[in-house]
Amino acid sequence: MSHEERLGEAVLRRHDYGPGSVERLWSAAEVWQLFPPDKTTDMDAHLRAWCDRMAKLAPPADSACMVNWPSHDAHAIRAFLDHGFVPISILATRTSPPGEVVTVDGVTIRRAREADFEAVLGMAISTFDYTGLVSSPKRPETEELLRPQLKRQFEGDQLVWIAERGGEVIAAAECGWVESEPDSWAAELLPHGRWGYVNNVVTAPGARGGGLGQALMSLVHNEFHHAGAVGTYLYYNPPNPLASVFWPRQGYRPLWTIWEVRPASAIR
Ligand SMILES: CC(C)(COP(=O)(O)OP(=O)(O)OC[C@H]1O[C@@H](n2cnc3c(N)ncnc32)[C@H](O)[C@@H]1OP(=O)(O)O)[C@@H](O)C(=O)NCCC(=O)NCCS
Repeated sequence: MSHEERLGEAVLRRHDYGPGSVERLWSAAEVWQLFPPDKTTDMDAHLRAWCDRMAKLAPPADSACMVNWPSHDAHAIRAFLDHGFVPISILATRTSPPGEVVTVDGVTIRRAREADFEAVLGMAISTFDYTGLVSSPKRPETEELLRPQLKRQFEGDQLVWIAERGGEVIAAAECGWVESEPDSWAAELLPHGRWGYVNNVVTAPGARGGGLGQALMSLVHNEFHHAGAVGTYLYYNPPNPLASVFWPRQGYRPLWTIWEVRPASAIR
């Protein structure tokens, strides 16, 4: 559910993510999102007006102020930092041709099968054990929120790849297709075309740093490329010390930064 109001030349939208909303995996339950006019040169003025507006509302504890803005607009970055925002997430794209498929001795990398469902779910949950330390807190209902989403993935496009050693799943990548076409939500963020979306990637804690993530993604990038993707994209959290190094090394470049203040009342 969402509600919109005008704030000068900007639009302020409130999203309510009730119990059962998959957005709760990474988001606060109530989010006020600002849409400043494109290419504005006075972000500070929009943020001041927003701060005044929030002072008249009574946001709950599980809330955030959020805005997506082009990562390379340095003037806006100054304004966001001054108003208490943190760069919680980056939407990054990779459009270069895939390199060679990399392998790791003794490890099989392949598409997941139905029998791998519980193992992949366990791996996906473990991603949130880690990201809960370095970005949004892990919610107690993480498994409940993830299970139906992953089930649809297994029953639908089946864009899930795993790395397995000795019959045990030790890394997984869950992906999807996203079509950016005129007037679609995706076109607000991505150049037009058919994109591979890299949703959840994780290596088992004891196997990290052994080249599995790189090998897994080399296959994912090749398969998307050969299936006609214009590129692949994903979100990662800059405070995540593993992801913030890993993704740029795999060829991803920031396009949008998601700036956030939690709780929403902390905007200043
Ligand atoms: C991010 C993540 C998926 C990366 O997976 P990984 O399997 O550890 O990644 P890799 O081992 O392929 O690469 C990471 C680094 O390990 C080292 N490495 C790679 N191959 C190696 C090898 N054969 N031997 C030893 N070290 C190696 C390198 O330092 C590499 O970085 P480099 O590209 O500078 O060489 C993993 O750290 C993870 O699961 N993190 C927690 C969950 C998470 O944050 N997920 C991402 C959410 S966006």
